[in-house]
Amino acid sequence: MTRPKVLIVDDEEMMRTALEQWLSLSGFDPHVAASADLALQMVDDVRPDVILSDVRMPGLDGMAFLRAVRERRLPAEVILITGHGDVAMAVEAMRAGAFDFLQKPYVPDQLVETLRRAAEQVALRREVASLRRQLDGGDNELAGRLVGASPAMEALRRAVRELADIPADAIIYGETGTGKEVVARCLHDFSPRAKAAFVAVNCAAIPAELIESELFGHEAGAFTGASSRRVGKFEHANGGTLLLDEIESMPLLAQAKVLRVIQERMVERVGSNTAIPLDVRIIAASKVDLAQESAAGRFRADLYYRLNLATLHLVPVRDRADDCVLLFQHFLSQASERFKRTAPALHPADLDALRSHSWPGNVREVKAAAERFALGLDAPGRSLENVLHTGSAPAASSGSLADQVADFERRLIEKELARHQGSIAAVVDSLKVPRRTLSEKMTRLGVRR
Ligand SMILES: Nc1ncnc2c1ncn2[C@@H]1O[C@H](COP(=O)(O)OP(=O)(O)OP(=O)(O)O)[C@@H](O)[C@H]1O
Ligand SMILES: [Mg+2]
Repeated sequence: MTRPKVLIVDDEEMMRTALEQWLSLSGFDPHVAASADLALQMVDDVRPDVILSDVRMPGLDGMAFLRAVRERRLPAEVILITGHGDVAMAVEAMRAGAFDFLQKPYVPDQLVETLRRAAEQVALRREVASLRRQLDGGDNELAGRLVGASPAMEALRRAVRELADIPADAIIYGETGTGKEVVARCLHDFSPRAKAAFVAVNCAAIPAELIESELFGHEAGAFTGASSRRVGKFEHANGGTLLLDEIESMPLLAQAKVLRVIQERMVERVGSNTAIPLDVRIIAASKVDLAQESAAGRFRADLYYRLNLATLHLVPVRDRADDCVLLFQHFLSQASERFKRTAPALHPADLDALRSHSWPGNVREVKAAAERFALGLDAPGRSLENVLHTGSAPAASSGSLADQVADFERRLIEKELARHQGSIAAVVDSLKVPRRTLSEKMTRLGVRR
């Protein structure tokens, strides 16, 4: 890291020199100005990260200087040095946008510590601004849906734009939560098929004996239990896009039938002899390599080759650390808006925590962590480190979904009760639930006021 630039403003020469030497020894790049007016002339050249200014000076005093700095929208943080016991002045300084103030006589270590915090704050703001700029550059709409500034994400957005225009079938590979479904939707929404339906089928979620009827539909009476006619997913997606999600878990028999439909571009409902012409783009999503699966005999090679016209590989979050910060920021501001809270500030330590976490749940996990952080569910410390730990704990112990949801609800209600000093009416209002629902939940979850 480069040395943070500090502009020292003080009318006393002895003071300026002493501070200059001390800050230089402490890892900063100090510059000095003998008055606030001179400092204002210097700021555009020096571009300080932090300005350290005395309050009592002839000419423009520290407070007026602070206001001038803020009016010019300089990115620097300002720290004021006030006289001993000048509390009113200190309060006014904070209100006017000072980062902090120090009362004379101050301890030099304390000064260095405060300067360091201010410099980190500025660096953090700069980093976020630069990530935002990268995000705003290029194709805005797609970048808003596929957030990320890493080379991998840029390449992905380029590939999505290119592939959206051509009707080739495609396979999307990626670990859980890397965005396979979002990418499939983007391929549809940015294609000439956007007006027709996007239909997603989770092949792992359909029992083997129902998969044909689910995909191809059936006529009334086609088999026991088929009381009325049913339109299948292929037909639903006609003119549009069909996502075969988790295709690796499709039974081999169904694979053969799907292959036939894809090759002939015709579908027959189960129990019917009429072939319906299809114009559907097929996108398959898989967590595992289908080439390997077909080599191992677990996936039909012919279906694999038929689908393998275009492939997209989604990169896990742990391999794109900068995206992780950007994604977290993105979900944090979204969640704060939704929960009507001000987004908690991120500190440099939080960024480190984000970058070093392994994110086994990928973007989905980043989103959940940002939401917990926005809600402040992990109070009192609320350091992001804690949030990340709470986040991975339930996944590791893998309680059932219902247990985890109940746990989440309990903590949320407790938190809200605490925030409103036990007022049920206030919690009803803030969580927007009927009073009855709230009291039922409290009883069931064992929450007391
Ligand atoms: N690049 C991204 N930008 C913004 N949101 C994203 C991005 N990637 C994923 N998401 C969000 O993360 C969550 C998980 O994404 P998605 O459901 O597409 O993942 P998946 O790969 O299909 O996961 P699974 O294999 O578990 O089904 C969704 O809420 C999605 O909106
Ligand atoms: Mg998915």
